[in-house]
Amino acid sequence: MYDLAIIGAGPAGYVAAQRAAAAGLSVLLFEKNELGGVCLNEGCIPTKTLLHSAKLLEQSRSADKYGIRLENPTLDYAKVLARKEKVTKKLVGAIRVSMRNLGVETIKAEAHIEGGAEGDFTLSADGQEYHAARLLICTGSRSFIPTIAGLEYPSENILTSKEALELKEIPESLIIIGGGVIGMEFAALFNSLGSKVSVIEATPKILGPMDEELSSLLQGVYASRKVDFYLSSKVSRIEGSRVCFSDSEGEEKSLEAEKILVCVGRRAQCEGLGVEKIGLALEKGAIKTDSHMRTAVKGVYAAGDINAFSMLAHTASREGEVAVNDILGIEDEMSYKAVPGVVYTHPEIASVGESEQSLRAKGLEYEVHKLPMSYSGRFVVENERGNGVCKLICDPEGRLLGAHLLGDPSSEIISACVIAIEKGLKLKDLQRIIFPHPSVSEILKEVSFT
Ligand code: NAI
Repeated sequence: MYDLAIIGAGPAGYVAAQRAAAAGLSVLLFEKNELGGVCLNEGCIPTKTLLHSAKLLEQSRSADKYGIRLENPTLDYAKVLARKEKVTKKLVGAIRVSMRNLGVETIKAEAHIEGGAEGDFTLSADGQEYHAARLLICTGSRSFIPTIAGLEYPSENILTSKEALELKEIPESLIIIGGGVIGMEFAALFNSLGSKVSVIEATPKILGPMDEELSSLLQGVYASRKVDFYLSSKVSRIEGSRVCFSDSEGEEKSLEAEKILVCVGRRAQCEGLGVEKIGLALEKGAIKTDSHMRTAVKGVYAAGDINAFSMLAHTASREGEVAVNDILGIEDEMSYKAVPGVVYTHPEIASVGESEQSLRAKGLEYEVHKLPMSYSGRFVVENERGNGVCKLICDPEGRLLGAHLLGDPSSEIISACVIAIEKGLKLKDLQRIIFPHPSVSEILKEVSFT
């Protein structure tokens, strides 16, 4: 009998296993694929590895501006893909070592819940039976495939992010259906690699809930790099390599491309797991959790994309920790008020907390403080022609509610904003903090004085 059985070893499951085992619990961790889940094997890490090479390629093309002469930089895509494999293997290996060192028993097989209740749940995998006092379900999500006439997935030319990461050749042309986070990261990647990219997005803006002004600036950057955007456009059917849609004026249009990438969101997945055998009901395919990551069934927890709430790796890990702390009797609770979101385009865009749109929708008063990133000397040093914005949003008392950044390295600077929002800091608190000079993060202090 184990203290805790965890199903799924993505960022929710493997972090929870680490925390639980380090605290002395006996832990059984099931994973049918590789440790690290989608994030490490077919999501965040491989995408960022490819995007890093694409960024270097872009930079090498404009190296001249920085006084470096490079004769016709070229791309060895096979080598880029090999490096992606190497990075992934290294990180998966590190998780394996960590599990071994902490004494977590990992089972590489698909787990099924057979029954039981708190104190003794029965699971099976590969014909073996296992028992655990508690369960933590971290089975994640999969790409959502919409019902569109003629859309056949999987097929030669229709891809999700998973297949797009495995393409051996760079497509000459690519149509991306969905201008959300995945859509824009792949638009950035294949645009840098030389594909002709078109993005078809159903709503009037790219990047969903991200700040309107910054999303529009980023769209402008990619439009100037010859990515075509079709917003407020509804895909009606796919005919082979042709995507037919009605544009924002309601006019019927069609585009043709070598590959079609579908990225219109992800859905929680736990089909065939057997949650009904312990009386756990799904809501629209997801498992509902409270702020302690408890489900409706005593002794059963869920964390990560399976609750379909935030669907980000870093949220998943934190939810896993909260679940483990509840099991250990350590006071803790999930807070979603400062969950950062980053899109790893070039330039990056990062955001945390409330946006102008979300505050307007709630009818709340707010103040906007913003500056171009070029107020930071370091930004000017490193961006010969870069446009960027730092926008902080506060309540009328100056308490920080949201932060929205466009420009590199927003993914790093946003952490300071996450802490400020989570801890309820005001602009006047930022004014008294010493930021390193020269750093792009100094922009936060500059903005706090506007
Ligand atoms: P998303 O929800 O970010 O964007 C999907 C987009 O598709 C939306 O803008 C939606 O309006 C549009 N759409 C839906 N149906 C459509 C249709 N029929 N035609 C045209 N457009 C349509 O979902 P996405 O980009 O697939 O990402 C999935 C999840 O993965 C998200 O929850 C995201 O947060 C997460 N993720 C996060 C990353 C990061 O943090 N850097 C990277 C990759 C994924």
